Amino acid sequence: MRIQDATIQVDFISTVPEGHDLLVGIFEGEVETSCVKDSLKTALKAADFTGKKGQCFSTWSLGDTPKRIMCIGLGKKDTLKKQNFKEIGAKCFVMGACKSEHLHVVLPTQGLENPDCAISCLAIGAHLRSWKFDQYKTKTEDSCQQKLKKISFVTPHPDETQKLFHEAKAINEGNFLTRHVVSEPPNVLYPESMAQCAKEQLEPLGLKVDVLGEAKMRELGFNALLGVGQGSARESQLIVIEWMNGPKDQAPIAIVGKGVTFDTGGISLKPRTNMDDMKYDMGGSGVVLGLLKALALRKAKVNVIGVMGMVENMPSGTAQRPADIVKSLSGQTIEILDTDAEGRLVLADALWYAQDRYKPQVMVDLATLTGAIGVALGHEYAGLFSNNDNLCEQLTEAGLSVDEKVWKFPMDSVFDKDIDSDVADVKNMGSGRGAGSITAAKFLERFVNNVPWAHLDIAGTTWDKKERTLTGKGATGFGVRLLNEWICKNYETA
Ligand code: BES
Ligand code: ZN
Ligand code: ZN
Repeated sequence: MRIQDATIQVDFISTVPEGHDLLVGIFEGEVETSCVKDSLKTALKAADFTGKKGQCFSTWSLGDTPKRIMCIGLGKKDTLKKQNFKEIGAKCFVMGACKSEHLHVVLPTQGLENPDCAISCLAIGAHLRSWKFDQYKTKTEDSCQQKLKKISFVTPHPDETQKLFHEAKAINEGNFLTRHVVSEPPNVLYPESMAQCAKEQLEPLGLKVDVLGEAKMRELGFNALLGVGQGSARESQLIVIEWMNGPKDQAPIAIVGKGVTFDTGGISLKPRTNMDDMKYDMGGSGVVLGLLKALALRKAKVNVIGVMGMVENMPSGTAQRPADIVKSLSGQTIEILDTDAEGRLVLADALWYAQDRYKPQVMVDLATLTGAIGVALGHEYAGLFSNNDNLCEQLTEAGLSVDEKVWKFPMDSVFDKDIDSDVADVKNMGSGRGAGSITAAKFLERFVNNVPWAHLDIAGTTWDKKERTLTGKGATGFGVRLLNEWICKNYETA
């Protein structure tokens, strides 16, 4: 698997050089006091540009060599948070993308609480938005070819701003790795190639990567996970990543990801329409990979174990059938009613293994688990399911501060009865109609052995067919920035 360098260059300078394309930020109501020439002020006023958040204005400065001047509205100065500056940075990228090769961005920094921080956030947002996946294109298109290669941000203290940018960039790099593996086609990305990618990408950063193959998993009793992969020609894998850079006596945080590299539904075959979407059914495992990369790049003082259950769900003569009963790693038996409810089977063994082997203080899993979560929440929020209210609060808050939001669902025991089986301990699908995302989470809960745990259903947020504020079309990397923030705020030692 080749991983292209897919972002623009960013640097920081102290003054605006002459003769370059320029993007000027203007706060709401501050056109008059802004740093632009009087003639431009007049033009801005004529165009009803007031500096409202998101307003754009583009013109030319005519001289020997005409240069583009763009203005962007920043909104009211005193209402802007870090996240808003990232959004503005992303907008700067979008405005300049097809217009300029090298863009210079200037903001009025006087009156800002922390100008260096604000400018570094602009840069982080532009960098995050600039990632693209085009390494399989052999021809370039004429329509809106991206020209932009570099953005220079003007800032009072370039060195300090650069330092802040460098620290935060680690999180973007993790997010990009996630977006990359989620974007790779399923003929390139399958359980073994994901394992190889984890080794190649993470071992050089000092992370320990262990891979259990089918023989080892069979010996240990991963029958729920192996059952899902048994119809595939590809070998299933369990990838375990260790980042143990915290205090020796700190029990680790376990992050567990669903890694179905392609979900055909198996014998309970999915309809053909949009089946290609199921390449991103490994999104949860992609977040584990990217998150651990981010933690290692910024040398986080914390102990984290990442566990990725990797399988391909295919129909074939060896595939699992509806009505099969498997004995999971936990010892509980599972009646398979629908081979398309495979993610919970993979996670049942991965979660059990994580808590049994590593005795974590807390576990979070991420999975593109149910179509129903997209119906309920769309692309904005991931579903949050947990056995611990404090954990829910921590995750909700982290999500709000990086704009990867989560919404808590009920987990009452009434939903639990729905998955009791007549012939085994549990069945892999609820019998009632509705609450599909909750019954899926209740299934997982039976395999966490009472460890404080949260499940994030990211089926709606992993991929977006439309462009978003901080991401282009396609993979979002949703979960990396959220869990990084959650770990940073609640578990890292200074
Ligand atoms: N991978 C799907 C869920 C999914 C749907 C992810 C849309 C991303 C976008 C999952 O394995 C699945 O098929 N779930 C079934 C469960 C049902 C059979 C109980 C579903 O949601 O329909
Ligand atoms: Zn499925
Ligand atoms: Zn699936």
